Amino acid sequence: ADFEGRVAFVTGGARGIGRGIVRALLRRGVNVAIADISAAALDEVRAKFGEPQDRVRTYRLDVSDRDAYAEVGAAVAGDLGEVTLLFNNAGVIDSVSPSRLNYRMWDHVMGINLTGVYNGIQTFVPAMLASSRRCHVVNTASEAGLLEAGSGFLYHASKYAVVGMSESLRRELAHSGVGVSVLLPGPVATDIVQNARHLRPDAAPVHSARVIEILDTAHHMLKESGTRPDGVGELVLDAVEHDRPYVATRNELSDLLDARNAELRAAMEHAEALLAAS
Ligand code: NAI
Repeated sequence: ADFEGRVAFVTGGARGIGRGIVRALLRRGVNVAIADISAAALDEVRAKFGEPQDRVRTYRLDVSDRDAYAEVGAAVAGDLGEVTLLFNNAGVIDSVSPSRLNYRMWDHVMGINLTGVYNGIQTFVPAMLASSRRCHVVNTASEAGLLEAGSGFLYHASKYAVVGMSESLRRELAHSGVGVSVLLPGPVATDIVQNARHLRPDAAPVHSARVIEILDTAHHMLKESGTRPDGVGELVLDAVEHDRPYVATRNELSDLLDARNAELRAAMEHAEALLAAS
């Protein structure tokens, strides 16, 4: 694929995986609009990647805010031109236990991880469909969108939904000139655990010492053994180039996926047997 001179929009692009995607785009000569909720992180990424008037523009955006999203979308079109590469990547983890439920956490996690992805699609895909150029959308889900892995039940729900939405959108947009891929990262060395703590709304539960310990352990595990975000960025661009449906970041889950499929097959066989006997 020819990337030179194209325009990309990357949400959550100021840090972590999003920043890895930004770096991979810049290496290929793409002009990049970085959208992020953190003004401080945007300042840092601008200092790292170049002048605002140059090939990188930054936009403060909460992806869960529809009106703000539409405004930023229009601003990017004016500043850089037609967006043909969209990376719906912003996301937060949740750490609410089923014994301490509240609606604010549901709205918070779903608003960013799921509605935020949809808001990006609603903002940019209509123009992509009207465009004569090839376009591509990459939605960041997680391995937690394929398997239960103890990441928190709201997080799992949001990521399964992103996988389903991406697979369906890919099929619906086949032959339209808009490709769709879903990114399924395993552990990546980012500060997502720490960052999500700062973004938590006031109504979030106050964590017990045990939960804080679990989060600290998770943070150190990601930082020490997670895949580097720059490597993930390269994997993502390879998938865009070859229009691949799925982007993984490691090869360690196939036994667990097989086990899950075996359970599902067993349920189907059981249904067939039970209904035949009744
Ligand atoms: P990160 O915390 O390093 O980066 C996420 C960025 O998104 C931050 O700069 C943050 O300010 C921004 N952000 C958060 N809420 C936002 C909002 N409402 N609007 C706009 N920007 C917002 O996290 P990381 O690890 O780079 O995560 C990126 C994506 O990758 C997320 O969707 C996450 O769920 C997913 N992921 C990460 C994994 C990991 O191990 N780090 C594993 C699997 C999936």
